[in-house]
Amino acid sequence: MEHKPSVPGEVPTFTATLIIRRFDPEVDEEPRWQDFDVELHATDRILDALHKIKWEQDGSLTFRRSCAHGVCGSDAMRINGKNRLACKTLIKDLDISQPIYIEAIKGLPLEKDLIVDMEPFFDSFRSVNPFLMAGGAPKDGKERKQSPVERARFDDTTKCILCAACTSSCPVFWTDGQYFGPAAIVNAHRFIFDSRDEGSNVRLDILNDKEGVWRCRTTFNCTDACPRGIQVTKAIAEVKQAILRGHP
Ligand code: SF4
Ligand code: FES
Repeated sequence: MEHKPSVPGEVPTFTATLIIRRFDPEVDEEPRWQDFDVELHATDRILDALHKIKWEQDGSLTFRRSCAHGVCGSDAMRINGKNRLACKTLIKDLDISQPIYIEAIKGLPLEKDLIVDMEPFFDSFRSVNPFLMAGGAPKDGKERKQSPVERARFDDTTKCILCAACTSSCPVFWTDGQYFGPAAIVNAHRFIFDSRDEGSNVRLDILNDKEGVWRCRTTFNCTDACPRGIQVTKAIAEVKQAILRGHP
């Protein structure tokens, strides 16, 4: 419902209904859905709506956020059934004539309300050695040089903010808790194709595992979910090709 401005020039507000999947492990046996009516501006984001609920209606509503500007990756959640960042989802881009459904991302243990345990996700990330592996000092003792063409090979995968939107939208990850998941493969890709790195074969071996890249069914959920626009499925395909070739 739109509220007309009472002062000329004032931006109109709307009442939107958010239906949030709540879970408090201390009192709830199962998650439950709870409605909240919130007055918002079209320029507000879902994160603003969650803040209004927390600050004005129910201080127990629990969610993660830090930067509020799409950088830290801490507020991935399912909004109307799609994984998105709350801080990048504008109210004006949603149909507020209908309730907006919000729940935690899937495939990771639910801790409270919109918060999941991210440790299994970070375990997979850590297991691909997501850091430069280069023995010894650079040839000139100063820097490891790289041409623009060499840098371009892994440019896309440098953009990852580890939000888990991709991994938690993957049906293989939902059903197989051992699968590395798209985000770990994206972060392996970032170093596998880096000409300065000397650990590519180690990472390719790790991802050739039965829970590695071959579990990917190319459903593209991950690419659709990525708030950074990373071509996640393409990156996974490039890692598969590198394994088959035996080198990046
Ligand atoms: S690849 Fe995209 S969706 Fe996946 S963790 Fe990185 S930023 Fe998030
Ligand atoms: S709060 Fe940091 S990405 Fe949304």
